[in-house]
Amino acid sequence: MMLTDSKIRYGALSRLFHWSMALLIGWQLVGVLARVLAEDTALDKFFWATHKPLGVILLVLALLRLVWALVNLRRRPPELTMAATIGHIGLYGLLVAIPTLGLLRQYGSGRVFDVWGLPLFAGFEGRVEWMVEPGNLLHGNLGWLLLVAVIGHVFMVYWHRRGNKEHDVLPRMWG
Ligand code: HEM
Ligand code: HEM
Repeated sequence: MMLTDSKIRYGALSRLFHWSMALLIGWQLVGVLARVLAEDTALDKFFWATHKPLGVILLVLALLRLVWALVNLRRRPPELTMAATIGHIGLYGLLVAIPTLGLLRQYGSGRVFDVWGLPLFAGFEGRVEWMVEPGNLLHGNLGWLLLVAVIGHVFMVYWHRRGNKEHDVLPRMWG
């Protein structure tokens, strides 16, 4: 298996990014579902403990993945349709925007913040409204939009697979 992508399949690093992030985002989304469906239960508390640090790690992964996608842009398997291109760009947009808005709000809150013991923000007196408000408005909503987008993404993989064999994109990313 090659590290870089080719015209017929994604390479090892693209696959590692795709499937490790799919797992971690799955965890994150199960966690927020537990938060709204089973508020204040042990399940909610268990998942919520990982929400912010895992979100920061997902932001780092998304930025590295974006760079890797751009490096491989000319050798990746061609997108099936314009809709697929737009959909994938939209997914990247959400993967960067959601944790960025969360982190900006976290900073603006003026509270101390660390990622599993690694100190990130030292905190300060007061609160920066313009950093907090975009997150209040958009972080959760875009997070739910990501859940819908991921379901649509998986459905489209199934849809292409069940139609024309040439449109089966699963072997490009898996197997
Ligand atoms: C890819 C990463 C992330 C995803 C998919 C995500 C998703 C979500 C979703 C869907 C909600 C709404 C839950 C509800 O409706 O009650 C939420 C809430 C929240 N998230 Fe995240 N999040 C991510 C990263 C982060 C990061 C990095 C931070 C902060 C450092 C953060 C802080 C919060 C906070 C404080 C809330 C509760 C307030 C609110 O509903 O906006 N999240 N997140
Ligand atoms: C959180 C979940 C997921 C996200 C955010 C996501 C995102 C993406 C993105 C951005 C691409 C474009 C290639 C790239 O840059 O990596 C892609 C491709 C792909 N994904 Fe996912 N994905 C997720 C989950 C899944 C799952 C569960 C499946 C299983 C059916 C899947 C199957 C595929 C396939 C087969 C491709 C290649 C599509 C093509 O070549 O046209 N993805 N995914």
